[in-house]
Amino acid sequence: MSHTPSIAFIGTGNMAGSIIGGLLAEGYPANKITATARSEGNQARARALGDIQVSDNNGEAIAAADVVVLAVKPQMLKDLVLEHADALANKLIISVAAGVTAGSIENWVGHDCAIVRCMPNTPSQLRAGASGLFANAHCDEQHRAIADRIMAAVGIVVWCQQEDELHAVTAVSGSGPAYVFLFTQCMIDAGEACGLSRDTAEQLALQTVLGAARMASETGVDVVELRRRVTSPNGVTERAIQSFEADELAAIVTKAMRTAMARSQEMSTLFS
Ligand SMILES: NC(=O)c1ccc[n+]([C@@H]2O[C@H](COP(=O)([O-])OP(=O)(O)OC[C@H]3O[C@@H](n4cnc5c(N)ncnc54)[C@H](OP(=O)(O)O)[C@@H]3O)[C@@H](O)[C@H]2O)c1
Repeated sequence: MSHTPSIAFIGTGNMAGSIIGGLLAEGYPANKITATARSEGNQARARALGDIQVSDNNGEAIAAADVVVLAVKPQMLKDLVLEHADALANKLIISVAAGVTAGSIENWVGHDCAIVRCMPNTPSQLRAGASGLFANAHCDEQHRAIADRIMAAVGIVVWCQQEDELHAVTAVSGSGPAYVFLFTQCMIDAGEACGLSRDTAEQLALQTVLGAARMASETGVDVVELRRRVTSPNGVTERAIQSFEADELAAIVTKAMRTAMARSQEMSTLFS
């Protein structure tokens, strides 16, 4: 594989568009990137990302690439892989399709092949994503390094030793933005119930979530200690924390995330 591998994104929508945008922003050569979509509209959106090759010809794009990023919806993946099985056989395949196992993709290809599965999340659109990656047994260090570089263009990357861990990754970071949005919504609603205007409650809650997330990720102080520092004994915050604890917030979150993980496991059987 060349020093700067050529990458074909098969199915260029939100996720592939985010990754391509991130790669271009960090200086990946545009002439090493090809993007496909069937409709004119999605091809035009792909062209707007930069000076990349865009086409509706998956076969040509796969044949010319070192690395193929499969980024169509999970239910479309099987037909796509079966149609291009021969061309895919000697490529590094990176799949971002939720819930489709590396084993299923390998079965459809019909040969041993190097496959990296990724579970990204929506903040990838802002290059603030969190992706869990798993490499199958046919991947070597170079394959891992390429996949790492591609996904690191849109955020942080963590590697899983077992493919099953991607279900837990889905429950934590894949679905995680929705939990934060829900909690933020609760804060806005409660702020309004406490007497603020909706607009004021929204401004304060959004900036608080942003500021707290930055403190948690940028100060190097863990979240337990950060919470302790804003929770004076017998103070205002302590009353709220005690109320959350009395209502067993930790158990509520654990139950919700176990339910999400179970659904991820269930869904992966649908696409095998
Ligand atoms: N968005 C996320 O935050 C997120 C998070 C985790 C995982 N994922 C995974 O990422 C994948 C893509 O999700 P998305 O949100 O980016 O979906 P999307 O916006 O609908 O993008 C899919 C793209 O694939 C194209 N496409 C469909 N069939 C094709 C074919 N046969 N050949 C070429 N292009 C084809 C579609 O364009 P045309 O219809 O014009 O062909 C569309 O632009 C999914 O498997 C999803 O599970 C996404």
